[in-house]
Amino acid sequence: MHLYVIAAHLAGLLTVASAKDSRTFAVNHFYGKGPLTEGRMDPIISPGAASSHVHAIQGGSNFNLTMETNTLLDSSCTSSLVEADKSNYWTPTLYFQDHTNGSFISVPMFYMNVYYFFEPTDDEIKAFPVGLRMVSGNNSVRTPPPGGAANVLDTSEGTIQPVQWTCPRTSYDTPSYPPNSDGLHGVGIQDPNNLGAGAGFPDMNCDGYASPLRADIHFPSCYNPEAGLDAYEDNMVFPSSKGTTAGKANCPKGWIHLPHLFYEVYWNTPLFVDMWEQGQGSQPFILANGDRTGYSLHGDFIAGWDEDVLQKIINNCNAGDSGMDKCADAGTINNSADSCNIPNLIPEKIHGDLEKLPGNNPPTGWGVAASSSSSEPASAETTTSVPSASKTETETATTTTAQASATKTSNASWSYLGCYSDNVSNRALTGVQFANLGIGKVTSTGCMKYCSNAGFSLAGTEYAGQCFCGNKMESSSKIGAGKCNMKCEGDASQICGGSAALSVYEKATTA
Ligand SMILES: *[C@@H]1O[C@H](CO)[C@@H](O)[C@H](O)[C@H]1NC(C)=O
Ligand SMILES: *[C@@H]1O[C@H](CO)[C@@H](O)[C@H](O)[C@H]1NC(C)=O
Ligand SMILES: *[C@@H]1O[C@H](CO)[C@@H](O)[C@H](O)[C@H]1NC(C)=O
Ligand SMILES: *[C@@H]1O[C@H](CO)[C@@H](O)[C@H](O)[C@H]1NC(C)=O
Ligand SMILES: *[C@@H]1O[C@H](CO)[C@@H](O)[C@H](O)[C@H]1NC(C)=O
Ligand SMILES: *[C@@H]1O[C@H](CO)[C@@H](O)[C@H](O)[C@H]1NC(C)=O
Repeated sequence: MHLYVIAAHLAGLLTVASAKDSRTFAVNHFYGKGPLTEGRMDPIISPGAASSHVHAIQGGSNFNLTMETNTLLDSSCTSSLVEADKSNYWTPTLYFQDHTNGSFISVPMFYMNVYYFFEPTDDEIKAFPVGLRMVSGNNSVRTPPPGGAANVLDTSEGTIQPVQWTCPRTSYDTPSYPPNSDGLHGVGIQDPNNLGAGAGFPDMNCDGYASPLRADIHFPSCYNPEAGLDAYEDNMVFPSSKGTTAGKANCPKGWIHLPHLFYEVYWNTPLFVDMWEQGQGSQPFILANGDRTGYSLHGDFIAGWDEDVLQKIINNCNAGDSGMDKCADAGTINNSADSCNIPNLIPEKIHGDLEKLPGNNPPTGWGVAASSSSSEPASAETTTSVPSASKTETETATTTTAQASATKTSNASWSYLGCYSDNVSNRALTGVQFANLGIGKVTSTGCMKYCSNAGFSLAGTEYAGQCFCGNKMESSSKIGAGKCNMKCEGDASQICGGSAALSVYEKATTA
């Protein structure tokens, strides 16, 4: 052994191993026609079976319903430009739900990037061990992050908040999220530090140049070898800056510091811009798991790297946005004109116009009574419920169409007050906003019944499919009857307000 090698080796033992003072990074780019594959496949959460919802998957072609530790290394191709990366990366896909007929239309993936961040730390950053499984985000969540929309990626800074939606726009003059949004009534909440991002879906079209609505998912970077490669529920934590010099974050003792992965998945939402009205406090996109809120965004990873190649990239490459394929040590780079794809292993229709989401996931989320309302309607869906194929959405809109007329809909206990203005950033009825009658099921009679059960005396429907309850009208005035001109999504023989216009009904005091 040469002397300098011994010296370097000794230095490694005597000093803190290769501390990093500033972030370096390299983006992993994919190539080809669409992702590697799409379908109800998830070998981490649902090994050997159909997954509950559709995912878009990138990476090595040996992706399968069941995978062993080394399965990916033998992949015959990979959708990653760097041939040495046969890892798999996946997230739920996105659908558009049409508010007039309730059908679901698949939103094509635009493209995906995976950032490999090598963050400042006193630890030595190591390559992903082959077969490592990780999941970030929570499929069951339908409520906004308790600490707000901003990311929290350091365990010493509070509860981890790893997922966001980014909405790149040419102008933020009208914010992507209503400024007063509490995230519980049809639209998410703004990241206070970033106009372009938030938790949950925004209610504006994302028209940034070549950058539509984007799912953002950060992964933890500290691996506990004692938990093991397969223990995705507890083998990883985010690093902590506690007790470190400024800007650095370290892993717990005995854990291994890995690269910080960050998925960006762009969805081609501008294709649908003419099919919905922006800035109305609601939006039409829904995750494949039935989540209308976007809070349940999550990502999965199985490592299939040639560890030597990745270690060299970690140690020597800071190619940044120009891409990992530009790193001197990246090895063979695939031809971006090729494509690496495998079939959907759960053959079924997942694209185009669908009556139900694949896996029959009912739409869930939003429609929770505002905290100001004393009585939560018994029929309101619990926001934390896990969607499952067998569970059907709570249905409250049993409509009585017999006595409905096309202009107004009243019965014995309710009367029609008229068409009233509604200001999206300053609602007229604030008791319950966006009452959950089931998507595509809103009717004026159903809204009256819902508000009655919830203890309110006023009910209002708007924009064909929205229901509001309250006890008094605020900042609103009567407007021309013709402004309330939209047929109810749940019953075309009834009228459900219009754009910024509420069909308002009042409950008789002696009913
Ligand atoms: C998935 O696994 C099955 C069973 O081992 C095998 O027959 C099939 O070829 C695999 N599919 C892919 C795409 O690797
Ligand atoms: C890389 O691209 C070549 C063709 O350019 C293809 O033959 C090969 O299968 C690809 N390798 C991987 C691992 O994708
Ligand atoms: C629902 O409406 C959308 C938009 O108008 C349309 O593209 C789609 O084909 C319709 N689906 C059905 C089943 O009518
Ligand atoms: C995921 O969210 C659900 C619903 O809020 C919660 O009950 C569960 O504990 C969460 N799971 C994890 C691993 O945090
Ligand atoms: C809606 O309310 C906001 C906030 O109170 C106000 O600034 C805006 O002018 C109102 N818009 C209309 C059309 O009345
Ligand atoms: C209207 O009247 C019927 C019976 O008369 C009742 O079942 C229903 O709940 C009432 N309210 C609404 C909103 O339909």
